[in-house]
Amino acid sequence: MRDRETIGEGLARRGLSRRALLRYSAWLASLMALPPTASRVMAETLADKPRQPVIWLSFQECTGCTESLTRSFSPTLEDLIFDLISLDYHETLMAASGAPAEAAMEASREANKGKYVLVVDGSVATGLEGAYSTNAGKTNLATLAELAADAAAVLGVGTCAAFGGLPMADPNPTGAKSVGDIVKDKPVVNIPGCPPIPEAIAGTIAYFVTFGRLPDLDHLNRPMAFFGDSIHDRCYRRTFYDQGKFAKSFDDEGARKGWCLYELGCKGPVTWNACATLKWNAATSFPIQSGHGCLGCSEPGFWDRGGFYQPLSAAVMGNPALIGGAAVAAGAAFGAASAVQARKKRAAAQAAAKQAEEGRQG
Ligand code: SF4
Ligand code: SF4
Ligand code: F3S
Repeated sequence: MRDRETIGEGLARRGLSRRALLRYSAWLASLMALPPTASRVMAETLADKPRQPVIWLSFQECTGCTESLTRSFSPTLEDLIFDLISLDYHETLMAASGAPAEAAMEASREANKGKYVLVVDGSVATGLEGAYSTNAGKTNLATLAELAADAAAVLGVGTCAAFGGLPMADPNPTGAKSVGDIVKDKPVVNIPGCPPIPEAIAGTIAYFVTFGRLPDLDHLNRPMAFFGDSIHDRCYRRTFYDQGKFAKSFDDEGARKGWCLYELGCKGPVTWNACATLKWNAATSFPIQSGHGCLGCSEPGFWDRGGFYQPLSAAVMGNPALIGGAAVAAGAAFGAASAVQARKKRAAAQAAAKQAEEGRQG
């Protein structure tokens, strides 16, 4: 006997047709570069499944990641993620607080052992044995260990959770660490960005709900579907870069003509994210389209990697770790060199991760 409402039944109860689910599946399939035929199968699979239980923990964070997922212009396709999941615990979004909220989390953990997805935003404080950041009388460190133990998968949402983020910036006073630094016995998927793109969060969860497994990941455990290309690869100003046309200040003639922002500090050549294609706020724009270079917010340590307004060449001279100590070429040509070096470094890390995974399986 089934005791939980299916996604299809839930949609019908809210007056949404299965067509909405079909549109959602088509959207998801195109986002994740799945074959067009996959969308119908996905819609049918999803309709008959119960909603995926999700427990969402917020640690050292600014709520920007949650804001990113919920700040959409209703009704949008990404809103439908809330019909696919049962968000059993989320401090910011749930109506309950205090003991009833904690009881809801415990009830979900008990009822869905080994099945729920644990989403974490914010980094984990480890200094003073985690005492810098607590909730309901427990350190975040202890809560994460408890909840991760019974989860099917763990998602580190936002650069704070994925790589330590701003709380980890030098001198890292709270001993901030990423979720993946703490959780070692469960798959941890990273969806970085400060904040992350909502479609990347929703798409990754929806993929797991539909297929019961995680999507293909890169060497930093980021879904390839959203982090497979660099900003530079897909940037609409790339033609200007290739022609050597660079804005020299934010209000010069080049800036007015929309030339490349490399010399104003754009980190697009060494940043992997989908901003240039998916954009933000219902696909309205993204930083570079608004006239500001990419800060590299989806990469580890972006806050400590030289000045945001230093060209990559200068930033890397000050911190060779940015692209792995590449030989430095002069001026803007360095952008090409750094992009190539970053790509090589990424390919090598990818190959090493694959080899390690094969070793584990073999
Ligand atoms: Fe805030 Fe950025 Fe950290 Fe998300 S990743 S919690 S938006 S600082
Ligand atoms: Fe676009 Fe930045 Fe690359 Fe220029 S350097 S093409 S602005 S990503
Ligand atoms: Fe972040 Fe760069 Fe996108 S700063 S929002 S990865 S364009």
